[in-house]
Formats: sequence, C-alpha cells, structure tokens
Amino acid sequence: MASDVIVRFDNILALDNFSVSIPRGVVGLLGPNGAGKSTFIKTILGLVEPVSGDIDIVGLDPRKDVMSIRDRVGYMPEHDCLVDSMSGLEMVTYFGRLSGMTKEDSIPRSHEVLDFVGLGEERYRPTASYSTGMKQRVKLAQAIVHDPSILFLDEPTNGMDPLGREEMLELIGKIAASDKSILVSSHILQDMEKVCQYVIIIDNGRSVAQGTMASLLDQDMTKRRMTVRGSPKSLQTFSEQIHRDFEETSISEEFGQMNIVFINDGSFAMILDMAKGHDVQVRSYVPDRLTLEDVFIRSMKRDA
Ligand SMILES: Nc1ncnc2c1ncn2[C@@H]1O[C@H](COP(=O)(O)OP(=O)(O)OP(=O)(O)O)[C@@H](O)[C@H]1O
Ligand SMILES: [Mg+2]
Repeated sequence: MASDVIVRFDNILALDNFSVSIPRGVVGLLGPNGAGKSTFIKTILGLVEPVSGDIDIVGLDPRKDVMSIRDRVGYMPEHDCLVDSMSGLEMVTYFGRLSGMTKEDSIPRSHEVLDFVGLGEERYRPTASYSTGMKQRVKLAQAIVHDPSILFLDEPTNGMDPLGREEMLELIGKIAASDKSILVSSHILQDMEKVCQYVIIIDNGRSVAQGTMASLLDQDMTKRRMTVRGSPKSLQTFSEQIHRDFEETSISEEFGQMNIVFINDGSFAMILDMAKGHDVQVRSYVPDRLTLEDVFIRSMKRDA
C-alpha cells in the first residue's frame, strides 16, 4: 500500500522510508507526538506531497487521483474542520454535497449519520456552541456521510471523556462490522487495544513494528508481577539490580513492600537466588498480561 515514502517539511524528515501494507478491518496507526501519523494520513489522501515513494490506495495514486480518492475515502481530521456559524446538520450536509451528493440525498443521509453518531437536537445549533465530544461526533458523521469504503480517523477520541471515548470506539467497531477498512491514528493505547485488529507503530517517521494485535501481544516475553519485602537498603539494592538486568515496567514501594512488574524470560529460581543475595523475601510472583503499552514502549526503546 505504501512503500519507501519520504516526506519532508523543510529540514524535518516527517516520513523516513515509511512502508506499510494495510489489511482490512480496523488498523491502528500508533506513535508518539510528532511521529508522523497525521502526515502519513494526509499523504495517502493527497493533501501532502511525498518527495519519493509509492502509494496505492484501492488501486489509486494520491498524486494523480485525488478527487476519486476523496469519493471513496472518508477522513476525520485531527483538528477542527467545522465552521463555527454552521449547525452540525448544515456542516454534514455540506460535506455530503462536496463528495458529490445531491441536496435531496444529502439532507436525509446527514440526519441518518447524525443519529448514528448520537447527536440529538444539538444538530440544529451552531457548532461554535458544541462541546469537544459533540464536535468529534460531527467530525465522524461528515467522514461517513457519503458511505465511503475506507475511513481515516485521526485521533478520533481526542479530548473526549471516558464515556464518550467508549461510545466513539463502539461506533468505530460498528462501522468496521459493515465491511469497511478503517485506519485509526492514536496515542491512547488502551483505546486502540479495544478496537484494532492490526497495529502499525510509527516513530520518527519510521515503521518500528507491524502486525496483528494478537501476534504483537503474544511475543515470547513473559511479564511478571512480583512482590518482595525487606529492609529499605536491601529493597533498594535489589531493585537496582532488577533495573540493570531486566526490562521493567514499574517499581513501587510502600511500607517495606515493593511491587515490581518486569519481563523475565529466565527462571524463577534465578530470581529467588538474586533475592537471597540481597536479603529480600519474595512474597508473590505471578504472570501478568502483556499490554499494547508494553509492546509500544519496547518498540520505542529498540528504535532509540
Ligand atoms: N505543515 C508542516 N510544516 C512543517 N512541519 C510539519 C508540518 N506538518 C507536520 N510537520 C512536522 O512533521 C513531524 C510529524 O508530524 P505529524 O503531525 O505527522 O505527527 P503526529 O504523529 O500526527 O503527531 P501528534 O500525535 O502530535 O498528532 C513533526 O515533526 C511535525 O512538526
Ligand atoms: Mg497527528
């Protein structure tokens, strides 16, 4: 779908030989701020021109077929794309008209998609008066008004409260169930873990990990949660050694008890020996579920 794409803004290399192939379903494009997520989406849409590289989206080339791509693709931009003085309904109808719908088709269809995203009577008010959550809903509605087969959603849950986020993810799941391809960019990993079947991790404009969610969460690393007790001095030297020898995701201490979450691909016997050496007592040692956050942090560290 995209190979060796290079995008430059003056002296910033925003995409650095970026290559991905995007399967059907919900695909997460994950990366820290400034990684190049929005740039990639804009490049496939033909809004940003690459220096070099090939892009193919449903057989179309964004450098030549911008208009046909707009008809087939829905785009929910990261930043506000709403006109303050227009109501949500006017806005969505307008976007429907832009993608070639007649006024007669666009109005009922706009009501339909606004119902779908859960915007009520507010649809008649100017969007200037909307909360962030309402704006995100209208932005999603305008992206799907012309029933595109492919959707690009740039940070769809941004600024939403937990309940709103949950609803937005549910909507994304529902859209995906009607046989659409969806690329969602985000850095909210808990959200992405819930909806994505496939994940692309991008850092500094490069793809640092790609795969199905299941394969990424099933890497052969074993995460453990361990509780140890001991004197402050022994706890300190023990945790220092853990920090040196293992990849650890958290260490916290209260009342002489230390909780450590770390990756141990070795044996428990070795940990016991280590604990003995530092004069700490292991109180519990249990496997813990690997999260997308672990995979993300690990990919970032490897890239660095
Ligand atoms: N129009 C532009 N002009 C100059 N630099 C830009 C422009 N757009 C993006 N950049 C730069 O390109 C890099 C990638 O930016 P991009 O917006 O794609 O990141 P992102 O992954 O979407 O980040 P965020 O999570 O903050 O939205 C950044 O260094 C950014 O400053
Ligand atoms: Mg962005």
